[in-house]
Amino acid sequence: MKNIVLIGFMGSGKTEVGQRLAKRLGYAFVDTDKIIEERIGKGIADVFWEYGENYFRRLEAGVVKELSDARGHVISTGGGIVLNRENILSLKKGGLMVWLKASPETIYERVRSESHRPLLNVEDPLNEIKRLLDAREKLYAEANLSVDTDRLDVGKIVDIIVDACDRVAGKK
Ligand code: S3P
Repeated sequence: MKNIVLIGFMGSGKTEVGQRLAKRLGYAFVDTDKIIEERIGKGIADVFWEYGENYFRRLEAGVVKELSDARGHVISTGGGIVLNRENILSLKKGGLMVWLKASPETIYERVRSESHRPLLNVEDPLNEIKRLLDAREKLYAEANLSVDTDRLDVGKIVDIIVDACDRVAGKK
């Protein structure tokens, strides 16, 4: 049973979709950010402030390595997981990689009231979202499947992913 790996920008709905998807399929749910937070005993923003982004990226890559043998998991990933090629290769080897796509405006609306995302704690978050998305789009596009989430609710997104998985497994 292959994993389903959700990638995409901050605020693209990976956690909510992932939890619903896991429940529907009877898979285990894991979130790479949560694993790091539990391990370090601090929130992601604090890890960034106290130890820096590079340290966080090393922890993130370590978690991906640990998950490389997992099967039957829905894995929700931090938005920057794709910055490391090894992460992409390892996650794709174990599962179907799905990119939850969202426009900068949608992302901005979803994250504007939150403060736990260190990379968006800047003067002009919308501009920063556009800049980062632009730099990362090619990397997200390495996913096996992409779902445009702007106009879809969580239930519909889950349906689309389940359908795609059935297709890959030859059930349809
Ligand atoms: C990051 C995304 C965050 C978290 C960290 C860095 C990024 O995860 O891993 O703040 O580089 O895009 P979410 O995508 O779950 O917000």
